Amino acid sequence: MPTVVMNGVAMEGKVGERLIDVARRNGAHVGFICNGAGICQACQCQVLSGAENLSPVNTFEEAWLTEDRLKEGHRLACKTALRGAGTVEVRTKAEDLRRRVLAVIRPPAGSNPVVQLVPLIQYVVQMGTDEMALFPSNIINVISRIKPDDLSWPFRDLSRYMDDTKRVVTSVLGSGTPRPALAPAPARLVIEIEAPEKPAKP
Ligand code: FES
Repeated sequence: MPTVVMNGVAMEGKVGERLIDVARRNGAHVGFICNGAGICQACQCQVLSGAENLSPVNTFEEAWLTEDRLKEGHRLACKTALRGAGTVEVRTKAEDLRRRVLAVIRPPAGSNPVVQLVPLIQYVVQMGTDEMALFPSNIINVISRIKPDDLSWPFRDLSRYMDDTKRVVTSVLGSGTPRPALAPAPARLVIEIEAPEKPAKP
């Protein structure tokens, strides 16, 4: 049986199951605004190891993700399925962002909010830059692939959607269990902030 280590937590999956379904079933912190239709990108994640146990990158992912992001192992969890019995290690964008924001609000010992703010800004700017780099071809490309079924899900799948949302939110906010540390995602974009010069004393 395949194992998915998502945001540092191990969970069981089934061959053929999508990463997003493993995450939702286990209350892992992943976004799924469009319910897996491949429209919102909220389910984006980075594969840290075990990529060979996943389905190949598909056309939805090629439309949304730049070449650099694909090379770094970024995938859409709703378009990526388990295809082997090995272990796959994944970090979700939602959890990565949450931890970066938390580090600004509650900086680790020896740090301060300003120091923690710089990597957060780099991360957000890089995400925006990557998304803008493909605009508008990404939107056109994805719209051309959407089927009526992808948009009608609220009429047939709303209660599962609500249950899964509750499970994820409860697990993220409510457990109080310290979460395992994650290495920060490497940044391609580096913003250097120079300290202002102190005025000379009169
Ligand atoms: S859940 Fe919306 S793109 Fe994957």
